[in-house]
Amino acid sequence: MRSFLWLTILLPSLTQNTLCILINVTVDDSDHSILYSPAGAWNVRNAASSCSACTAQPDPTKMVLGTWHDSTFRPIDGGTHDNPNTPLFANLTFNGSAVYVFCALAESAISPDGNSDMAFYVDGQFMDSFVKPALGINNSYEYQLPVFSAHSLAPGEHTLVLQNGHVNGTQSLVLLDYIVYTYVLIDTSA
Ligand SMILES: *[C@@H]1O[C@H](CO)[C@@H](O)[C@H](O)[C@H]1NC(C)=O
Ligand SMILES: *[C@@H]1O[C@H](CO)[C@@H](O)[C@H](O)[C@H]1NC(C)=O
Ligand SMILES: *[C@@H]1O[C@H](CO)[C@@H](O)[C@H](O)[C@H]1NC(C)=O
Ligand SMILES: *[C@@H]1O[C@H](CO)[C@@H](O)[C@H](O)[C@H]1NC(C)=O
Ligand SMILES: *[C@@H]1O[C@H](CO)[C@@H](O)[C@H](O)[C@H]1NC(C)=O
Repeated sequence: MRSFLWLTILLPSLTQNTLCILINVTVDDSDHSILYSPAGAWNVRNAASSCSACTAQPDPTKMVLGTWHDSTFRPIDGGTHDNPNTPLFANLTFNGSAVYVFCALAESAISPDGNSDMAFYVDGQFMDSFVKPALGINNSYEYQLPVFSAHSLAPGEHTLVLQNGHVNGTQSLVLLDYIVYTYVLIDTSA
């Protein structure tokens, strides 16, 4: 689902009679506009989902809408896992001028291995990465951490790609909570 959270009015803008209104739209990880791939690589999580394959067990009450998507990139096939050495993607096409990605992070280094290795692309162009080794604090999580932002995009349609892991890279855990984008509403009747 989507919710309209913030509203900022910028004055004056294009002409005397035009208002440019920036509206932040929150896209929850459970929103069907986020496309997850490859098939089966992402676990759909909430308080009721019992994911036996998931070693990360964050507090659902600290996730927006109580939901998150969990994926682990593994460079080596441990024998029981699909997609070894294959990066995992969460893609969102949105209409706006800015985009922000929020994740939870596991701080433990073993089971779960909270190492982060994410890369972010907008319209096929590499923008930034979020690389952080696990701190090594057992049973500890960080919540709603901004892991990526891009705020000077040309207003219009863009595709954001979150890539978890890279070929021959380190193991990487992603706990995606939500994405925010800034919609540009141009009101010429003002
Ligand atoms: C939208 O949300 C981001 C991330 O929380 C924030 O930095 C930005 O100022 C917000 N923009 C507007 C127009 O409210
Ligand atoms: C997401 O984007 C990546 C990188 O462009 C692409 O390889 C993948 O097929 C896309 N996934 C979906 C479901 O569109
Ligand atoms: C953290 O958990 C790992 C894996 O269960 C264990 O090997 C390690 O001893 C724990 N460390 C502490 C400080 O409890
Ligand atoms: C994006 O939103 C703006 C403002 O409402 C609209 O004018 C424009 O047609 C939209 N563009 C796309 C590609 O949907
Ligand atoms: C990954 O490692 C294999 C084996 O060492 C090598 O053949 C391959 O070129 C590497 N791929 C990348 C993208 O680094």
